[in-house]
Amino acid sequence: MSGSLSHGKAQDVGAVGIDLDGLPGLGDSPETSRLDPRTWFGADRRDLPLDLEIGSGKGTFLVQQAEAQPGVNYIGIEYARAYWLHAADRCRRRGLTNVRLVHEDAGTFVSWRMPDGVMRVVHVYFPDPWPKKRHQKRRLIQAPFLRELHRVLSPGGEVRLVTDHDGYFTWMAEHAAEVADQFTVEPFERSDAADGVEMVGTNFERKYRREGRPFHAMTLRRID
Ligand SMILES: C[S@@+](CC[C@H](N)C(=O)[O-])C[C@H]1O[C@@H](n2cnc3c(N)ncnc32)[C@H](O)[C@@H]1O
Repeated sequence: MSGSLSHGKAQDVGAVGIDLDGLPGLGDSPETSRLDPRTWFGADRRDLPLDLEIGSGKGTFLVQQAEAQPGVNYIGIEYARAYWLHAADRCRRRGLTNVRLVHEDAGTFVSWRMPDGVMRVVHVYFPDPWPKKRHQKRRLIQAPFLRELHRVLSPGGEVRLVTDHDGYFTWMAEHAAEVADQFTVEPFERSDAADGVEMVGTNFERKYRREGRPFHAMTLRRID
C-alpha cells in the first residue's frame, strides 16, 4: 500500500512515531545493533507487558487494542511511510501513551534491533500474501523469521496469525511445522480490539468481511 492518506491535513507523529533515522545506526551484526524498545515508553510504563504488531496499516487494531488494554505497551511496525504517518498521527490524537509506531521493515527490525525475550505477543493480521509463485519468497512468515520471533518472545509468548488467503495459510502451517521444536499450534482466540463478530478488528478484516471472504487463523505458542 502506498500514497498519501493525509488529504492535505498536517500530520504529527508526536512521541508515538519512532523513525529509526533518529536512533543509533545498524552495527556490523545483529548483536551490535540491538535497541531496548522498553525505554521508548514513559518511566512509569517500562515494566509493563509488551506486544508487537507487524504491518499496522492504518492503525485501527493498535488504536482499539491499546484502548482496551491500557496496562500493555504496544509497538507497531509499518514500512509504508504514508501509513506509518497516518497510524502514528491517529494514535497521538487519541492520546495513547501505550503505543509506539516504528517506520521500518519488520524483518530488519525484529532480526537486528530487538533484544531477546521482550515480547509477550506478536500480532500479524492480514500480511501481504504475495500470491504469485515468483514473489512468494517475499512472504513475511517463513521458518527463519519464526525462529527470530521465538528469540524475541518471552516464555510462553505467542504469535497470532490471521489471513484470508488459503495458499498463504497453508504456507504458514508448513513453515510452522518446520519449527515444531519451537512452537506449538493452538486455536486462535479473538482479540480485545474485535467488535461484534470480528476476530481482530483490522481494516482488512472489515473490508474482506464485507466481501464475504472466509478467514484462517492460528496461534503459535512459544515452547520454552
Ligand atoms: C495487507 S496490509 C494489512 C494491514 C492491517 N494489518 C490490516 O489488517 O488492516 C499489510 C500491511 O503490512 C505492511 N507491511 C508489509 N510488509 C511489511 C514489512 N516487511 N515491514 C513492515 N510493514 C510491512 C504493509 O505496508 C501494509 O500496511
